[in-house]
Amino acid sequence: MQKEIFLFANWKMYLNEKESVVLAKKFAQKFAKKKSNIKMAVFPGALAFSAVTKVFKGHAKGGQRKKISTGAQNAHCEDKGGFTGEISMPMYKAAGAKYILVGHSERRHLFHETNHEVWQKLKAISEDGLIPVLCVGETLKEKEAGKSKEAVEIQLRAALNGIKFSKNQKLIIAYEPVWAVGTGKHCDPAVAQMMAEFINKLAAILVSQADLVILYGGSVRGDNLKLFIDQKNIDGVLVGGASAKLDTWAKIAQNAT
Ligand code: PGA
Repeated sequence: MQKEIFLFANWKMYLNEKESVVLAKKFAQKFAKKKSNIKMAVFPGALAFSAVTKVFKGHAKGGQRKKISTGAQNAHCEDKGGFTGEISMPMYKAAGAKYILVGHSERRHLFHETNHEVWQKLKAISEDGLIPVLCVGETLKEKEAGKSKEAVEIQLRAALNGIKFSKNQKLIIAYEPVWAVGTGKHCDPAVAQMMAEFINKLAAILVSQADLVILYGGSVRGDNLKLFIDQKNIDGVLVGGASAKLDTWAKIAQNAT
């Protein structure tokens, strides 16, 4: 059987609502093929979330096409309350979200999100019936000090501490070395495989019931995709820059089949 490949598109803060809808329509026409081993999801900006989700839902009507799912780039850990400017997990769920990104390196490093906040969010995601996409990865300094595994282990243990996953509940973990995100410098695929295997083994101990999926992220392009998805413990990719344009995403989708 062909391996199922996860292709996750993180549109970050690249597109406004109109641009997102235009691109979503093109994605739905081009990539939502029924007989495909690809599981595709898009993480649009918050303002475009509902509109993009509706585009994909509309295209999947009648079972003619496989649905492209959507996820949120970030959400607050509380369900409701006085948190000006925030969006909750149930709000995203009601708008059709399947996934929530948590612990993305841009949130950790640019917005100073702590391991504790990542844990709070992960707990809320798993309790709200959504699928977490937990991002972990070492900084350049940690890599150069030979501490990649150590850094990732600290993040994983903190994020999953005491969280109960029911049998077969999905947990997606993206290994995204901080120095590879948005830099054009991808990780050595053999190292990515070694880290994916390490993450898989550790997470299987920490949340033994969970159905684990491991992704690689960090400067993935059409021409380097295969190097990652052909690795034994890598089930797909989380892509930023190259996912927000039709031509670069098309190269990725083509090379994944
Ligand atoms: P990039 O981003 O593909 O632009 O490196 C990856 C990510 O942010 O997940």
